Amino acid sequence: MRMPLFRGMKRWGVLLSALLLSSLLLAACGGNSPSILNPSGPVALKESNLFWFILVVASIVFVVVEGLLIYSIVRFRERPNSPAAIQTHGNTTVEIIWTIVPSVFLFIVLIGTIYTMFGLKTFSSTGSPIQIKVVGHQWWWEFDYLNEHIVTADELVIPEGTRIVAQLQSNNVIHSFWVPELFGKTDVVPGHNNTSEFSADPGTAGKSFRGQCTEFCGLQHAHMNFYVIVKSQDDFNAWLTAQQQAAAANPAQQAALAGQKLFLGSGGCQGCHGIVGVNLQDYNHLKGGGDASVLVGPNLTHFGSRRQIAGAILQWDPASCVVVTGSDGQPKIENPGSCGLYQWLHDPQAVKPGNDMNIRTLSDTEIAQLIAYLESLT
Ligand code: CUA
Repeated sequence: MRMPLFRGMKRWGVLLSALLLSSLLLAACGGNSPSILNPSGPVALKESNLFWFILVVASIVFVVVEGLLIYSIVRFRERPNSPAAIQTHGNTTVEIIWTIVPSVFLFIVLIGTIYTMFGLKTFSSTGSPIQIKVVGHQWWWEFDYLNEHIVTADELVIPEGTRIVAQLQSNNVIHSFWVPELFGKTDVVPGHNNTSEFSADPGTAGKSFRGQCTEFCGLQHAHMNFYVIVKSQDDFNAWLTAQQQAAAANPAQQAALAGQKLFLGSGGCQGCHGIVGVNLQDYNHLKGGGDASVLVGPNLTHFGSRRQIAGAILQWDPASCVVVTGSDGQPKIENPGSCGLYQWLHDPQAVKPGNDMNIRTLSDTEIAQLIAYLESLT
């Protein structure tokens, strides 16, 4: 009997085209997404090297196996009057060979993986390591510089080349801490303190790297991003000194002073947020007795120096949030549509449904006053 060769080829053609098309489609995904294949730190470099190593081993296996398969299909295909195939069932030698050969390849991959895993904390760095308690909230990241006594949110500022020791903590659910270009994923588990050590390569000052939560943690899991901002040692020192200052007890500007009143008012922002020098005495008052900080929301002491809000799903800067005096003599935001901070304060639940910021509706004047105050907290 003759095999319908042409029909078989057509089917393969369809399959192959579908495969090629889908890989084209997938290749178009996330042009701006950070990639593990673009490492900017020693830890990410080791991890991407492991990826390439496994890819090479897997490619060798793929080419050899598929090559033998295609060769056999063509060479031993059924022809008119071909004899019956020789049956090899029960051939112990062959079975031992095809058990041992794959095991050897898997063992090679295993050794490469274990070697990389145990070497992840062995990398050279400059200066002394910086200890940072990273707290996964729902849904934003808090960065507590344990020895420098400052706390930030959504933005982790580090000096280039310095080892960062991140102590990962959560008092709610499991999150996972990941910056593709700097280090791989480590789970943030309540009641179990994991650490992640990494550094950004010398020469990366001025760059920022997007990080994200990579363990499903509820409604806004996809909106739990942050940025690692790398500075030169000098710039980092200057930044640190500025961050260690308490906020002014009374802002100079009229609108900002009104904003501060709102912040401190009954049912105001201070129920969840802290500003050192205003409603918190000092850094130590940010702390509770437990593992994570007591503040429900981010520390706002130097909010004006940050650009990311709400788990880095909104950005803002003073240039796009200009406070002007309206015709009624009250402060207002010049162009609310381009001010991420306005959108957030106007309706945080619309921006990020389910988040902890449940506030009463604020008037545009109140929002402008709050923004004027927050801008003063540089
Ligand atoms: Cu936190 Cu997902």
